[in-house]
Amino acid sequence: MLSGKHVVMGVTGGIAAYKACEVVSRLKKLHCEVDVIMTENATRLVAPLTFETLSGRPVCIDTFSRTESWDVKHISLAHKADLMLIAPATANLMAKLSCGIADDMLTTTLLATKAPILLAPAMNTGMWTAEATQENLRRLLNRGIHIVGPDSGFLACGDTGAGRMSEPEAVVEAAQALLLPRRDLEGLRVLVTAGPTVERIDPVRYLTNDSSGKMGYAIAEAARLRGASVTLVSGPVSLQAPQGVERVSVISTMELYQAVTERCEMQDVLVQAAAPADFRVETVATQKIKKQAGQPMTLTLVENPDIAKAVGERKRPGQTLVGFAAETQNVLENAGKKLESKRLDLIVANDVTMPGAGFGTDTNIVTLIDRNGAKALPKLSKRQVADEIWDQVLRLRSAE
Ligand code: PMT
Repeated sequence: MLSGKHVVMGVTGGIAAYKACEVVSRLKKLHCEVDVIMTENATRLVAPLTFETLSGRPVCIDTFSRTESWDVKHISLAHKADLMLIAPATANLMAKLSCGIADDMLTTTLLATKAPILLAPAMNTGMWTAEATQENLRRLLNRGIHIVGPDSGFLACGDTGAGRMSEPEAVVEAAQALLLPRRDLEGLRVLVTAGPTVERIDPVRYLTNDSSGKMGYAIAEAARLRGASVTLVSGPVSLQAPQGVERVSVISTMELYQAVTERCEMQDVLVQAAAPADFRVETVATQKIKKQAGQPMTLTLVENPDIAKAVGERKRPGQTLVGFAAETQNVLENAGKKLESKRLDLIVANDVTMPGAGFGTDTNIVTLIDRNGAKALPKLSKRQVADEIWDQVLRLRSAE
């Protein structure tokens, strides 16, 4: 519940403005006070009356409007806000914010506020990946501005790719985490692995898998927001490192093994959500392998080290080890075997065949298994799954 909290929500002129209506509605259901500021362009997409009805307050658009009781509105909203949430945040808004441009009600309020700022970017993939936007994003992140999303998927312009505004549920969760931060992981050092690994075949080909890194990054972000000191060892993914998290980038399973084993000793908790390749090519060709017309191609693969097992063998008292099990059959049985063989304290069983679970999705459906039993979770956002994992880790540590 967010009673007593005040969110000033900026709505900018992107087609995802319709999703902002649900964000306001969800915040209100949590008893949060919401003031909406719209840009002129946003009013072309959604009528201000919609936000007035949902928020129960007049919508601010014009800096010079005199219909309200006398106060310098952008300053008073800037002071009142416990959080400024901009959803959707267009490339234009991000560019203005990064340069400190204040030319309308929303940007003047943003410049004046001391409250945390959370952006939910939404734009075409080309605009999102443009060097200018990415440079603005880096500047905003360095300045301590929080970002939720964007997700990848089908965009209103017909393209498919990164740039879709996160779902309202995820935006509200991110807002809640900033408004009511739990600090129950304060003082813990945690290491999270995320993403796929890539095993070279030759200079132009490789073996990999479908891991997007979303699950591991959500776990790292949740831990950071709850006060832990977080190292994220990540395979190649297109996600931004969560704010305040130290990222170590790796490519192959051997590199992941190296990065994790040299850091595991000093960690209180390790959560291994990465999907490392179990095999690598015995001899990586230095030149592109030429096909022999009509001839089959044979690659000799050798086994990669099992990193979770190696960490389990080095486990020291007081450490909590969490692994994942990505399974397509006999999910609970196979996960239970991995819990034992890798000397884990907790395993997150992941049936990757279920719609809305596993690779690439924003949601997951998992069962948490430890030596006391199993807890099946419903379909949740990966961020919610992350919090469930941390809650269970804390229960296990307090029972020790
Ligand atoms: O990244 P996303 O797109 O969000 O997808 C999330 C996910 C499906 C990758 C994630 O939820 C997940 O299930 N991760 C584990 C993937 C995996 O490798 O599962 P596994 O059952 O093969 O491995 C079991 C455990 O051993 C895992 O903790 C894994 O990190 C670890 N492992 C595996 C192989 C290896 N050589 N070394 C390891 O340490």
